[in-house]
Amino acid sequence: MKTTLLITLLLLVLLPIHGCQCKIVQFIFGDSLSDVGNNMNLPKSLAQASLPWYGIDFGNGLPNGRFTNGRTVADIIGDHSGLPRPPAFLDSSLSEDVILSNGVNFASGGGGILNETGGLFIQRISLSRQIELFQGTQQLIVDKIGKEEADKFFQDGRYVVALGSNDFINNYLMPVYSDSWKYNDQTFIDYLMETLGAQLKVLHSLGARQLMVFGLGPMGCIPLQRVLSSSGGCQDRTNKLALSFNKATDQLVTGLSAQLANASFKFGDAYDVVNDLITNPKKHGFSNADSPCCSMGRIRPAITCTPMSTLCKDRSKYVFWDEYHPSDRANQMIADELIKKFGFLISPSPAPDSAPSPDSS
Ligand SMILES: *[C@@H]1O[C@H](CO)[C@@H](O)[C@H](O)[C@H]1NC(C)=O
Ligand SMILES: *[C@@H]1O[C@H](CO)[C@@H](O)[C@H](O)[C@H]1NC(C)=O
Repeated sequence: MKTTLLITLLLLVLLPIHGCQCKIVQFIFGDSLSDVGNNMNLPKSLAQASLPWYGIDFGNGLPNGRFTNGRTVADIIGDHSGLPRPPAFLDSSLSEDVILSNGVNFASGGGGILNETGGLFIQRISLSRQIELFQGTQQLIVDKIGKEEADKFFQDGRYVVALGSNDFINNYLMPVYSDSWKYNDQTFIDYLMETLGAQLKVLHSLGARQLMVFGLGPMGCIPLQRVLSSSGGCQDRTNKLALSFNKATDQLVTGLSAQLANASFKFGDAYDVVNDLITNPKKHGFSNADSPCCSMGRIRPAITCTPMSTLCKDRSKYVFWDEYHPSDRANQMIADELIKKFGFLISPSPAPDSAPSPDSS
């Protein structure tokens, strides 16, 4: 009798240690649209959001690595889902405990699906490299909580893959990159799909089951593209490439989701919503949809926003924050659209059977 009681007590004490009471966290792979500080820690990177006025509407208002005045789309979607905001992989606070309770964000400004994309920025983390870093992270967690619990932790995670615009703007559409003359529109998109498909399969082999891929917006309408034409209009060809990319990615992701075991891979874009913001800004409460809020005035394009730039009067009335990136309020509208499309995000709490907790009663 006594022995049984002792064993029971021992079990009660030991169980919680072995049971993984792991939280559901996010792992984010992306570019400057999702970077939350990785590039700030790449000393030689030319794509940085480390100076004012980046971050002016976020927290204490100091630059935090986000390439916008406030929140990124991934911030807003994660908040909506009740998921913690994952810190940048290169953030000095990162530790096993932080990873287990908040996830990790690997996104890097200037990064692309292709390794060669964004070479002009000197330092950036490509998707392949982001996935390698994720593998390293997994090893740390396995060492900390054991293989079985780690597998469960990574299979329960939510994965976001959001990049592609640099593969066009800072690669294919720039003659200094050899991809611009090695490929045509169709073969370049085929090459992107082949590469992205292989990377998504690697993520699946590493445990990713619930994964969202974000499509591209009308990137021919970012201020940086508009200044290329004398009329200041959108670059039609660039927009067509975004649409072709979205169509191909949708097919790729839908196919993989059907093919890979237990995969729930989803594709969503906000192309039409952003296009509507740009075409009918007033309808959505914006007063400007073609120039950046943070700007050097007549010196355009000044690629990044700097302390010498001037700010527009009302940041919530500009679709674009800088030459590339949407403002916080535009990001809110993009996120709202994606939330509408990705049904599963709306129920943040894990289904009871997907997160058994040790019976310690
Ligand atoms: C891309 O870079 C990774 C290293 O980050 C490397 O393992 C991979 O082979 C490269 N892919 C190509 C196609 O060169
Ligand atoms: C798929 O899910 C089932 C049921 O949860 C599980 O037994 C199986 O191992 C999973 N397969 C993979 C490859 O994740």
